[in-house]
Amino acid sequence: MNRLERTGETNKEKVESTRTKESMRIPDWKTLWEMDRNHFIHPYTDFSTFKEQGSQIISSAEGVYVIDAQGNRLLDGIAGLWCVNIGHGRREMVECIAGQAARMQYYNPFGHSGNEPAAMLSARLAELTPGSLNHVFYTTGGSTANDAATRLVHYYNNLRGKPQKKWVISRLGAYHGATYVAASLTGIHATKHGFDRIADDWITHVSAANMYRRPAGAEDLDEEEYCEFLVSEFRNRIEQLGADNVAAFIAEPIMGAGGVLVAPRGYHRKMWEVCRENDVLYIADEVVTGFGRLGAWFASEDIYGYVPDILVLAKGINSGYVPLGAAVFSEEIYEVISRPQCEGGLLTMGFTYSGHPIACAAALKNIEIIESEHLCARVRDVGSYFFEQALTLRDLPIVGDVRGSRFMVGIEYVKDKQSKTPFDPKARAAERVFEACRDQGLIVRPIGNQTVLSPPLIMSRGQVDRLFGVLRSGIEQTASAI
Ligand SMILES: Cc1ncc(COP(=O)(O)O)c(C=O)c1O
Repeated sequence: MNRLERTGETNKEKVESTRTKESMRIPDWKTLWEMDRNHFIHPYTDFSTFKEQGSQIISSAEGVYVIDAQGNRLLDGIAGLWCVNIGHGRREMVECIAGQAARMQYYNPFGHSGNEPAAMLSARLAELTPGSLNHVFYTTGGSTANDAATRLVHYYNNLRGKPQKKWVISRLGAYHGATYVAASLTGIHATKHGFDRIADDWITHVSAANMYRRPAGAEDLDEEEYCEFLVSEFRNRIEQLGADNVAAFIAEPIMGAGGVLVAPRGYHRKMWEVCRENDVLYIADEVVTGFGRLGAWFASEDIYGYVPDILVLAKGINSGYVPLGAAVFSEEIYEVISRPQCEGGLLTMGFTYSGHPIACAAALKNIEIIESEHLCARVRDVGSYFFEQALTLRDLPIVGDVRGSRFMVGIEYVKDKQSKTPFDPKARAAERVFEACRDQGLIVRPIGNQTVLSPPLIMSRGQVDRLFGVLRSGIEQTASAI
């Protein structure tokens, strides 16, 4: 049965009343469904089912809820896509965006031309970010920010007379995006089927820091020994490549799409120390963990005790109200890349929408809201409760592991808890949980054999209880059907 047949047309009238029609004539939901299915190539689509099932089209959103084109109200357990940190439909954001659009919607950012919100946001980010991270290069999302970060790292090494220093070490399981370079930095094999690879001569991957599934030889190590195992692997890789050839290490503080993997205690700090010893830059991809998700503005320094050389941001930077990404560079890197290469030489890199005024204005307002509503402190309180509630799911027969921190959680399903035998992908374990939850008014995210959760940071304890009530029932339903 496709989505059209399953849901029927009963909510049509309700939907008509919830739509904003002033600015755009929106067709009925069935026409929308067809337009979408026939013409929109969605990111990460399962074409074995898409052409039959199509999409669930979301029409409006408010707080921690979204409403689909048929009028179904759903609790958003994933904040859009790890991004709507301050919640949906905030009036202050709408007014700020509209105000900036009316005042000056766009102007050229190249060379010596700027705009007010971009200047103010850059100064604000320099204040908020740790250490000497004072210089911001803007893009339109996380992939382009990672792409820009690595491109500028190479440029930096060229300018400082180390042109052979090119290797970037990433990790298996990492997700860094979908541009050609960001996809190559990504270490999830399943994202690469059928696609060509680039940068095999300058991107390499070391093991994921996966406490639940360790690589061969590390199964029986305790946390400290496992940490040392991973750090040694990294040190050895640098040695094999030659420190003179290695430019950077890139890592998410907690691996997101790779399965919400939390590294052993001390890991990031030790990896950073190895970087320091070898003149290797540390790029922290905080696209997901930035702007409060773990209870701090940024996880790198506040939670893991290291200051990266480059901090990559997107998503929560303006809670997804307008596309925006940023790579924030240290004073030391800026000092080099801001030198003219030669007389008349330019930093020939940038986008039409670098520092887009509406996106930057939205980021400033978003930061103001995170601050005035003390959302980081709130995450340390309600987010910790959220994680405790997630841990209670461990008693269910197919739940092999629950991991994460605060408002970032992964739940891995297994056929057998003792042996950690994974479900065959054909069993669609996480997909079934997703469907069962959706039918009870909750959106969670299936990734492989896992459910991933990352709700808006404004979620209340009552809503947390409701979320886990529905999720428990969805997992139970799946366990008995699978
Ligand atoms: C850690 C991380 N980095 C980068 C990206 C890519 O960001 P975008 O999809 O905005 O290009 C993502 C997206 O989920 C991400 O989770």
